[in-house]
Order: sequence, then structure tokens, then C-alpha cells
Amino acid sequence: MTPRRDWIAMPGEALRGEPPMPGDKSISHRAILLAALADGVSRIDGFLEGADTRATAAIFGRLGVRIDAPAPGVRIVHGVGIDGLHAPREPLDCGNAGTAMRLLAGLLAGQRFDSVLAGDASLSRRPMQRVLAPLRAMGARIESDDGHAPLRIGGGQSLRGIDYTLPVASAQVKSALLLAGLYARGETVVREPQPTRDCSERMLEAFGYPVAWREGEARLDGGHRLRATEVAIPADFSSAAFFLVAATLVPGSDLRLRRIGVNPRRTGLLQVLRAMGADIEAIDARVRGGEPVADLRVRHAPLRGIEVPVEQVADMIDEFPVLCVAAACAQGATTIRGAAELRVKESDRIATMAAGLRALGIRVEERPDGAVIHGGRLHGAAGVDSHGDHRVAMAFAVAAQVADGEVRIGDVANVATSFPGFADVARDTGFALRDAGAEQQLP
Ligand code: S3P
Repeated sequence: MTPRRDWIAMPGEALRGEPPMPGDKSISHRAILLAALADGVSRIDGFLEGADTRATAAIFGRLGVRIDAPAPGVRIVHGVGIDGLHAPREPLDCGNAGTAMRLLAGLLAGQRFDSVLAGDASLSRRPMQRVLAPLRAMGARIESDDGHAPLRIGGGQSLRGIDYTLPVASAQVKSALLLAGLYARGETVVREPQPTRDCSERMLEAFGYPVAWREGEARLDGGHRLRATEVAIPADFSSAAFFLVAATLVPGSDLRLRRIGVNPRRTGLLQVLRAMGADIEAIDARVRGGEPVADLRVRHAPLRGIEVPVEQVADMIDEFPVLCVAAACAQGATTIRGAAELRVKESDRIATMAAGLRALGIRVEERPDGAVIHGGRLHGAAGVDSHGDHRVAMAFAVAAQVADGEVRIGDVANVATSFPGFADVARDTGFALRDAGAEQQLP
């Protein structure tokens, strides 16, 4: 039984200050993974101390990699080289982390030893076939529970490169294939229907692995080695997104968010919020550790509904929960299309957001691949369920800042997967948000 946590949230003060944002989740996973496979000792700064990325680090511990944590956000990884991982004694627990499971499926498919990847109840419901099919085409031997975790990966296979066009835009699947490609004979080419985040490609390059990529395509040859390096991880745009929307909605707000990763493959929400009328300024744009970063200044501004451009969906795939809140507070309707992937995230994010917004009094028309959200007044509500989805929980904490009463947000413990300390940071900035107390969840 996991302890269940709920929040009570309500309108607070105007949001002010420079709230610290946690490290980028996608980049933190990849930094650990490639540092573990590199020759030599790597230092990682800005590592996300979240449950998801710690799960990845713990898994490499079980695979025989020494990882020291001398200070919060710092990891010293003693790389074992591309062929130096050891067989694990037990199943490897990815917790709630889809990125860990899919990327590791690719990596472990190329090892000499057998392994098992397991996850929590939510991760065990998420589709793995999308990664299993192309890995099997490369020669991998992987058994699953009808396309779901646990994944039983047979070692000692000889993998061959693949030229694969992804049926759905997915950085996780692309990355899994590139990682398997490290161990494959010949070239692995991954083509995408829409360009997705390129953090694996950038990180491979930072570790000295030859990789060629352009928008929508990445390719590499197997058989090269990785060189230890120093990695500086920017703050996560997806975490900053909650504060960008909150400060936009709450009158009188003025926030500065420092060192935020602003890779264009991650910042679709910035374009969409600006098109809705948001006042967000990027200051001091620079490159840090191979990734573009900037400080973001955001001030309150009224929003109007828009049609979210379908071609921007992949660049903001994790930001839809909080975009739905912005849409609920905008004048007029906001239409989201081409986002069916939201149905297979940590929860069915179209259904969970529609249900929660309706509980707050907002009219939502749910569609198979999106929703039409009619802006209106947000009311208090005794029960909005986040279904254990971290981003849904944080999105409703933002919504509550402009509701006309208290909102009880259920099942928020998983916020620690991507934004440990969110509630404290939010309160320090002006949110009214308190813990409703820990109870035992019904089995
Ligand atoms: C991620 C890719 C995205 C995103 C997830 C992290 C990654 O998933 O939703 O939170 O780190 O590669 P998909 O690639 O499945 O869309």
C-alpha cells in the first residue's frame, strides 16, 4: 500500500520572486545512462532529484555502476565502458518512469545477460509494443505481458541496424532504437512523423559518440565508444510551465525563472501561450552543456482561446494538462487536436483533465485526439482526481489559484517523480496550497 496524499488548494497571493526549478527529467535520465556506459568518470550537475530519475540511477547501481551523490543535484558516475555492465540479480524497477523503461529496453536488448524491467501499476498499463516491435526487428528477444511490462529481455542476441519510420512521434522510442543501435551491426536510422525532443542525440554527441541528426531523422553506427564528460543539466521547461501559466493567470504576478531549457523541441507551450496573449520574455539566451537555456520572465496577462496548431503538439506533449488550465481561464474556446498520445501518458490526460475541469465548472467537449475547452469561471470543488498523474496534480494546483473556492486535489504523491518540493516552492511564490494529510490508500 502506498500512502495517498491529497492537496487542498485555493487562491493565494500574486506570484512573485525567482522560484527554483528542478533539473530536466529527460536529460537527467540520459546523462546517467550514457555516463554509465562511458569510459572514465563523468560529473553531472543539475540532476533532477525526482523519483523517476533516481530510479534510473538505482538501476545502473544494480547493473554494477558506481554512482556517487556528493551533493543534491550532483552525480559522479564511474563509467564501466560500453560492454562493462553486469547482470542484475533481480528485476529492475522503473517505478512510474516510462522514459526509464523504454530507453532501458533498447539498451538492455544489446547486452550479453538477461534482465527484467518492471514498473508500478500506471507504467504497467502503458503501451510497450511501440518499442518492442522495432527492437525485435533488430534481432532483440523480449517477452512482455501482452505488450505491457514486465519486459523480459534475453541477452546474448546479435543485433542488426534498422531503418525505421516511427508510426507515432516518440522521443522515447527513437532513443530506445538509438541505444540498441550502439550494439548493432551497421547503421540504425530513425525517422519521425514529426520531430521530437533531440536530447539523446545531443547527449550522445556530448559523450563523443558519432551521431548524425536533423529535424525528424537520427542515425548512428554501432561499435563506437563513449568518453566521460561533464554534463550541466538545465532546469526543466515542463516544470517551469506550471509557473508560467500560474503567473499568467494570477493578477499582479511577476516571476523570473532561471536557467530554463528552451530547446525548441520542448517549448511549444511558449509559442501557444504567447499566441493566447501571455507576457513571457526570454532573457539572456545562451547554450549550457549543449542545450539552449534562458531566463524566463512572466507577468500576468489576460488570455484568449485559440486553435492549438497540430504541428506544435509534439513540442509540448507534456504541457497539455497545464495548457488545459490556461484554456479554461481564457476568453472563448481553445481547440486541441492531433494529441491522441495524451491518452497513454501517466494517465489518460484527455479524460483526467476533462473530468477535473468539469468538476470546476468548465465546459469541455472531449474528442478522441483532444478537446474543446470553453473558458469560464472556475469554481471550488471537493474532489478533483489526478489519477496519480504528477502533471495533472500540478495543473489543478495552478487552476485552484484562480478558482472561487477551495479545491481538493486527490492522489498527488507522484508529483515527486518530476518535481520534488513543488508544494513548498509554490507556497514560497504565493500559492495557497496545503497537504490534506497522508492517509492509507485502499488496496
Ligand atoms: C520523453 C518523451 C515523451 C514525454 C516524456 C519524456 C523522453 O514521451 O512525454 O515525458 O524523455 O524521451 P514520448 O516520447 O513517448 O512521447
